[in-house]
Amino acid sequence: MENVEVYRSLIERMLALVDAGTTDSAEAAYRQPTSVYTDPGLLALEKETIFRDEPQMICFSSDLPGKGSYYTFDDLGTPVLLTRDNDGEVHAFLNACTHRSARLKEGCGKTASLACPYHNWGFDLKGKLRAVWQEQTFGSIEKSLYDLVRLPVEEKYGMIFAGMHPDVSFSIDEILGDMAPVFERWDLGGTAHVNTHEWKIKTNWKLALDTFCEGYHFLALHKHTLGGISIGNTAAFDTFGPDGRNHRLAFPNESMLKLRDKPRLEWGPEIFNDFQLVHFIYPNISLLVSPVSVEFFKLYPGDAPGEHRTIFRSYVRKGGEKGWDGNDPQAHFEFICKVVDEEDYWVSANVMKNLNTGLLGYSTFGRNEPALQNMHKAFLRGVGRTPVEAPLAGKAGAAAVSC
Ligand code: FES
Ligand SMILES: [Fe+2]
Repeated sequence: MENVEVYRSLIERMLALVDAGTTDSAEAAYRQPTSVYTDPGLLALEKETIFRDEPQMICFSSDLPGKGSYYTFDDLGTPVLLTRDNDGEVHAFLNACTHRSARLKEGCGKTASLACPYHNWGFDLKGKLRAVWQEQTFGSIEKSLYDLVRLPVEEKYGMIFAGMHPDVSFSIDEILGDMAPVFERWDLGGTAHVNTHEWKIKTNWKLALDTFCEGYHFLALHKHTLGGISIGNTAAFDTFGPDGRNHRLAFPNESMLKLRDKPRLEWGPEIFNDFQLVHFIYPNISLLVSPVSVEFFKLYPGDAPGEHRTIFRSYVRKGGEKGWDGNDPQAHFEFICKVVDEEDYWVSANVMKNLNTGLLGYSTFGRNEPALQNMHKAFLRGVGRTPVEAPLAGKAGAAAVSC
């Protein structure tokens, strides 16, 4: 199936939802203790389980452009070095020399081999130790025992995922499930990086993530930005991947309404401009794919429950260099930064301040927020806890309980 057929089906669903004055919904509202955002014990558990055991989406193939390119990743405390060898194959290593553990590379770039800055041992791009500097003085060693520490990695559909520990096993096809063919046709590897922005906001990493997972807030919080574009509080919701823990939300734009008067078969690829497509990939990725750009958000826990870090990388898709809605890609990047900064993360940091008072025991996710319900239940399963359906009739301000 071409992606245009995927878009047509989504639009049919969204128009039906708009006409019915509803949205894809959960069976009931779901009430969850706010301790999921404030409990230091849960944060430690999330780091020891979810963030240690799950693969991480690191970058796109275009971030490792061609043979001899390298890319470093330090977002989770494990220093990772990606290389693309002379056969075009991607490798992931601990960014550490096997002599005395010095860091090998910073940033990203191109190199023929990896020379350690400390005592100049040389490794090839496949991680093999090739040269011990001034070997005659060092003494004899079995070089094959000194290859770089290898980490699991896979490149597929233009994305590169890696595990932060040698024991992590995964496959991108399993992560994407039945959404894999759609990702394959997007050709994310053909994108070009535009710019990167980093937020360190005093809020829990899941509170920050929550802002990406519903359209209920669009016409309220974003009334002066997205409010003029989006229909709001309407979304086609789908889950994918293991246990259905990933999700896709398609949010209709006002411009979609004009398609009611046009036969379905005349809807061409341009209909991708009539909605916004947001993907959550467990545990911490939000990926916004549009005809022109791809917005890649990676969210990480901080040292305390009320601290987090988001890294936002903006990419322009092939053919999108002329820009978005008349703006150039840099202007689009700045617009996204402004909306997240002044609206979503502003609200999220204030929620955290209120939760820190200990006076708000529960958060409630409505029927119209099915993605949030699905995602938070997956997080609890991920740390080995059973989601508890808190009674909806209780007082919102009841004391927080652990779940
Ligand atoms: S630590 Fe790398 S050569 Fe010594
Ligand atoms: Fe938002």
